Order: sequence, then C-alpha cells, then structure tokens
Amino acid sequence: MIVGVPKETAPGERRVALVPEGVGKLTAAGIEVHVERGAGERAFFTEAAYAEAGARIVADTGNLYSKSDVLLKVQAPSTEEMPMVARGIALIGMLQPLAHPGVAQALALGGVLSFSLDTVPRIARAQAMDALTSMSSLTGYRGVLLVAGTLPRFFPLMMTAAGTMPPAKGLVLGAGVAGLQSIATARRLGAVMAAFDVRLAAKEDVESLGATFVAVDESSHEDAGGYATVLTEEKRRQELELIREHARQSDFIICTALIPGRAAPKLITGETVAEMRRGSVIVDLAAEMGGNCELTQPGEEVEQHGVTVLGPLNVPSQMPLHASQMYSRNISSMLMLMVKDGELQPDFDDAVVQGACITRDGAVVHAGTKAMLE
Ligand code: NAI
Repeated sequence: MIVGVPKETAPGERRVALVPEGVGKLTAAGIEVHVERGAGERAFFTEAAYAEAGARIVADTGNLYSKSDVLLKVQAPSTEEMPMVARGIALIGMLQPLAHPGVAQALALGGVLSFSLDTVPRIARAQAMDALTSMSSLTGYRGVLLVAGTLPRFFPLMMTAAGTMPPAKGLVLGAGVAGLQSIATARRLGAVMAAFDVRLAAKEDVESLGATFVAVDESSHEDAGGYATVLTEEKRRQELELIREHARQSDFIICTALIPGRAAPKLITGETVAEMRRGSVIVDLAAEMGGNCELTQPGEEVEQHGVTVLGPLNVPSQMPLHASQMYSRNISSMLMLMVKDGELQPDFDDAVVQGACITRDGAVVHAGTKAMLE
C-alpha cells in the first residue's frame, strides 16, 4: 500500500500532514510512503529528513496523487486538486464537512473513501486522533501571544521604581479546548482572567486554572455530545448584557465560542466595543466561522473606538512545526487504526471509524453532513 503526502496548497497553509517521525512508524508497518517534494518545507522538515526516515520523494504532483492508495492531507482538496483525487482512493484530512458540505458531496461523487479528523468522536480511546483538540490547543496559546504583541500594557503586575502597573484583565469567551489553553497561557504571563461559557461543565476547568467563571444562569446549555447548543433569544439577550458588563472592565478579550456546524455566535456587539477602554484588544479566534465580535473582519486587524480587533485565520499554521508534529500523530493514529497486514481495512462498526467516515461507496455517510445536504 502506498500512502501519499502532498504539499498543501491552500493560501497561507504551512503545515504538512505527516512529519519524518511519522514516516518511520508507517514503513515499519509495511507501508510505502511517498512525500511530495517541498511538502514539509514551510514547517521546517527537510526532504533529507523524510528520505532518511524511509520516504520516497516525488517531484511530480500528478504522480503522487495517481500512485497513492491513501492520501494524507491537512486541508480538504481544493477545486484544482479534486480532479487528481482518483476514484477508489482513500483520503484522510481535516475536511470540516459541516462547514463545507459541498466538498463532501464532491468526494462522494468522485468515489473517494474519506475520513475527517474533525468528526472523530470525543471519547478517551480516540484522543490520539483528535486533531480538533490538538489544533485548538495551539490556537488558544497563540491567541494570547497575539494579544500580548498588540496590547499597549504589561500582562503581569509590575512593581518598579517607575511605578506600579496593575496586571492586565482578560476575558475568555468559550471555555472549550482553545479557551482553556488561552486562560492557562495568559495566567502564566500574569494576567487576571475570567471566562464565560454556556456549558456548566466548564466551570470546574476554568476555576482549576485560577480564573473566575461567568455563566448566564444555573443550567447547562449543551447537547448529548457535550457541545454547546444555541441559546433562546431571551438567554442570548441576558448573555450579551453580562458580557457587556465584563468587557467594560477588561483589557483584552479572547473569543473562542463555537457551535459545530453553525456560524459563530455573536457575543460582542459594536456598542460593547465602543464602551471598552481605549487600547483594549480583542482577538477573535472564532473568525473562521464569522467571529464572536460584530466588528471582526476575518483575516484582518481593525481599530474602532480605540479598540484593536484581530480576526486571525488558520492560527495553527502560524506555528507550523509543532502543529504538523501534533497533526502527524493524529493522522497516523487514525490511519493505523484502519490498517491490518499493511492494507487499509477499516472496521466500519468501530465508533471511531464510523464517526470519522464522511464518504463511502459514492455517498455521503456522515449523518450531520447528510442532514445538511438534504
Ligand atoms: P468548541 O470549539 O465547539 O466551542 C468552544 C467553546 O465555546 C465551548 O466550550 C462551547 O461551550 C462554547 N460556547 C458555544 N456557544 C457559546 C456561547 N453562546 N457563549 C459562551 N460560550 C459558548 O468546543 P471544544 O473545545 O471543541 O469542546 C467541545 C466539547 O468536547 C466539550 O464538551 C469538551 O469538554 C469536549 N472535549 C472532549 C474531549 C475528550 O477527549 N473527551 C477532548 C476535547 C473536548
């Protein structure tokens, strides 16, 4: 079996799906690994390192696609790449089928057996494959550094001969994986933190990191899978008011609130931003899904009312080395779960395989994506 690792072509994408360390594990299992020339370059993994680990370097993109039995990718294939993805091939990547159901449809039409790491169930056994968690951790960490690089003040309390500077006060919206990592990172830098979530299960996590938990009420607004649900109009109004009160007292806000398969909830209104202290910073890590702040421009930095609003896209790609290393572990764990005797033999009765499988036998099989397409 040949596993192919193409160079990612999405604009700004610096990650690679498999790093040299991962190549060795696959070749040890009897798998041949082909890596496109330059695939790891932007993540600082050289061709020499891949070759030393046992990979074959392929210069021609078309060849790489046509010879592979399984393709390992970060991003879903682009419209230019899609015709190269041959019928009968298997593909593993971060396909984000709920955000891009059209891609899933195209893969089904193309007869591709596809698996997406972002739909792997969040259960203990699947943690090694949970790319959503590894990428969200990077995003949460990096988000704090983006604030720190923009904020016109210190994070920690500074007692100096030139005066005492109070610590910065930060608010995190959405205390999931990214939000908790942001709290931990900002606390390490000395900020005083508060966090807001609609899932009450987040309270203990937030408090264990030394931050204050803020909730709209005593009930938990979540579904059976542990994901947040959309609030009623009345609750949403209460939430916006609560966030407005906290925003006025904050020097920075890190937005991470998401609801799978939907646009990000708008939690910070333009009026709230206008009431914030001048020099405050909002980093909207939900920008890819439209953002939690009304003023966010995805991919841009805007300043309004003296407040800087950053809307970074593909944040993990800003740390391509560790992002690729973590992703490589996730994707090779997923692949190895489905390999027996050096061949791809997925057990479709396995809950992890079932959750990750998006298209099979010419059809979209992922329930959430199927529902979106109907
Ligand atoms: P996510 O990226 O889907 O959302 C981020 C956060 O935003 C969540 O905490 C969510 O509750 C919050 N949120 C949504 N709407 C909001 C609103 N209107 N106001 C405030 N906050 C709002 O979440 P993530 O990080 O992917 O986690 C989702 C679930 O998966 C959680 O229950 C988490 O504990 C669980 N999980 C389980 C893992 C496991 O291995 N067992 C690993 C990672 C996550």
